[in-house]
Amino acid sequence: MRIAIIGAGNMGGALAGGLAGGGKVSPADIMVSNRSEGKLLALKEKYPEIGTTLSNREAVKGADVVVLAVKPYLVETVLAELESSLRDNMVLVSLAAGISTNDLSSMVPFPSLPVFRVIPNTAMAVGESMTLMCYRNAESCHVDIVEGLFSQLGRVLVVPEKDMAAATALSSCGIAYALKFLEASVTAGVYMGITPKASKELVAQAMAGAAKIILDGDSHPGEEILKVCTPGGLTIKGVKALEDGGFSSAVIAAMVAAKG
Ligand SMILES: NC(=O)c1ccc[n+]([C@@H]2O[C@H](COP(=O)([O-])OP(=O)(O)OC[C@H]3O[C@@H](n4cnc5c(N)ncnc54)[C@H](OP(=O)(O)O)[C@@H]3O)[C@@H](O)[C@H]2O)c1
Repeated sequence: MRIAIIGAGNMGGALAGGLAGGGKVSPADIMVSNRSEGKLLALKEKYPEIGTTLSNREAVKGADVVVLAVKPYLVETVLAELESSLRDNMVLVSLAAGISTNDLSSMVPFPSLPVFRVIPNTAMAVGESMTLMCYRNAESCHVDIVEGLFSQLGRVLVVPEKDMAAATALSSCGIAYALKFLEASVTAGVYMGITPKASKELVAQAMAGAAKIILDGDSHPGEEILKVCTPGGLTIKGVKALEDGGFSSAVIAAMVAAKG
């Protein structure tokens, strides 16, 4: 299966690298195009077998899956440029935030082309993305292909398109809020005399452990919190301090604000 990735920035570069190292796609079957050369050279240095080009049309020649990894405002221009290069047996995947599958269908030469709107998060770079996906005109074989590609870079969840904005607030913007918790915790560690390096490791591993408990099991976070809280103990005092500071309502407000 040949994959064309248009745009070698944060997302396109991480996707190309993740797929090249994932073992399911041969790096030689990945072709990446970018407007300027620097990122392509850096990618080629790391993954010499990946094909690179400055021509988007060249990139999609013979591709089975075309991934758009350019900024949302460029999607229409890039698809107009590709109009004569797209084929009706291709699958189009857009990573662009806020561009609906309906918008995508209206920008391609074949209205029946399978189009996917996919929202990974920045943890794609380390193979731990939470990737959201919705689609239009796709058969289950197309869904399997796209899901198979992105599952090499973390988890994938198919979401009804009407829920994409809310789900994006949780998983894509949510990574920033998780990092805000980590940042504040490092400050607390330093305040209590622990080095920034050790503080970062202590909290990041605690967060990774908490996430794994939830992802691997089926308990509610509240149940896991109570397991850590001895009645009248120190942890529950900390939980109360968090709530006194408005922690839960601040997190909810952040997520709701990020939905737009
Ligand atoms: N970052 C995130 O957390 C995140 C999460 C989910 C989805 N997304 C979506 O992913 C998409 C890419 O975001 P990003 O963060 O990867 O952006 P980015 O780092 O700015 O990458 C975009 C790349 O597209 C290239 N480009 C611009 N115009 C082009 C053209 N006409 N033909 C080919 N390449 C072109 C740019 O080239 P130059 O090197 O010349 O500038 C740049 O390398 C966006 O639509 C965004 O909404 C991002």
